[in-house]
Amino acid sequence: MLGDRFEKFFRLARPCLFYSISVLLAVPGSAWAFDPATYPKADSTLGEVIGPTEIADAQALLDNLKEKIRHDYIKGLARRDAHPKAHGCVQAEFAVRPDLPASLTAGLFTPGATYDAVIRFSNGSPNAAGDDHNGDTRGMATKLYGVEGKKFFEDPGAPDAHDFIQISSPYFFVNDSHGYTDFFQRVNSGKTMKLFKIPFILGWKGTVNAAKMLGQKINNPLDVTYYSVTPYQFGEGDGRRAVKYSATPCSDPVSGETTDGPNFLRHAMQERLSTTSACFDFRIQVRPDSSFDVEDVITAWDEAKAPFVPVARISIPEQQFDTPEQNAACEALTYNPWHAIEAHKPLGTINRMRRVVYQAISELRFEMNGTQAAEIRKGQ
Ligand code: HEM
Repeated sequence: MLGDRFEKFFRLARPCLFYSISVLLAVPGSAWAFDPATYPKADSTLGEVIGPTEIADAQALLDNLKEKIRHDYIKGLARRDAHPKAHGCVQAEFAVRPDLPASLTAGLFTPGATYDAVIRFSNGSPNAAGDDHNGDTRGMATKLYGVEGKKFFEDPGAPDAHDFIQISSPYFFVNDSHGYTDFFQRVNSGKTMKLFKIPFILGWKGTVNAAKMLGQKINNPLDVTYYSVTPYQFGEGDGRRAVKYSATPCSDPVSGETTDGPNFLRHAMQERLSTTSACFDFRIQVRPDSSFDVEDVITAWDEAKAPFVPVARISIPEQQFDTPEQNAACEALTYNPWHAIEAHKPLGTINRMRRVVYQAISELRFEMNGTQAAEIRKGQ
């Protein structure tokens, strides 16, 4: 029983680092180096606070990665460290509501604006060959093309891209940068005794969240509600606020689709999109007041006090996405919460650490594979 719990526990924990760490850690001599001077600055007006050991923890995490990279490099086999298994990348359109209220107009959310988009659906498990029947947290990474404005970090494959990265859970399992680094050092140590302290690192709430996140079973990625989990700035200047995002299906789930085989989620999605379209409502949850802590991502914001409001419609037309060409391009996409314009700056510790990790891992992935960042854009 305890063994099962730990197995489940690590299946959750690895998604956002362990597999990538093992792969990354497998590359000798990364070109990417962490410069603490480039670490994101805290916006104290929105309640951001950089922890006393946060930057050192980010540095320690990378040192740990580099050490393992020198140790275990396997050329050409780099996958995403988190969410390596894609169910497919689909083309879509992101249309902002023409009747968007002024209070929800900011940045790329201007009434009636439309953007071409590509969405990568994934499993969170670090096992790229894992069975879709297993419980897991699922991913929905949406890349909008044609977003004007300077990005914090440009997508090397598409400088006009803005990314929204979401998972099928409104909360995460860890808040604290030191705990996060400690957690992965223990996982990487290979020593069983070190693993037993992990529930003490995550705490009761983080451990319960982890268990719930690992238990999620789905029938089709198109029928799931996704959340940004972490907060983002909304607007610029004195009027800026903190918000979270979510995307929820705009039609009822379909029953009777295929559930056969370890990759059935890809097949169910293709089966649906071969004959019909799908859609999501993209929603924004505005933080009502500063008691909703931007540094706390293990607590979902109470929807009774901060309801999600639809601001855009994501339309996924009928299409054949499951082709060798599109799957190869899907693998070569790179998503990063910092592929973002100033009006939608990522907030909080976890997002700040992601600024360090995503870029490093993505660059190493391309370096190891001898490939470069791609795009999947309408008409190409
Ligand atoms: C400090 C915490 C986290 C770290 C270190 C981390 C790390 C990573 C890394 C390295 C990747 C692969 C990037 C690439 O190779 O292109 C990734 C992908 C991903 N992460 Fe995280 N992550 C963290 C937190 C989160 C959170 C809070 C979410 C919730 C939305 C999330 C959702 C995802 C998703 C959906 C993907 C797949 C993106 C795609 O389809 O390419 N991660 N993560």
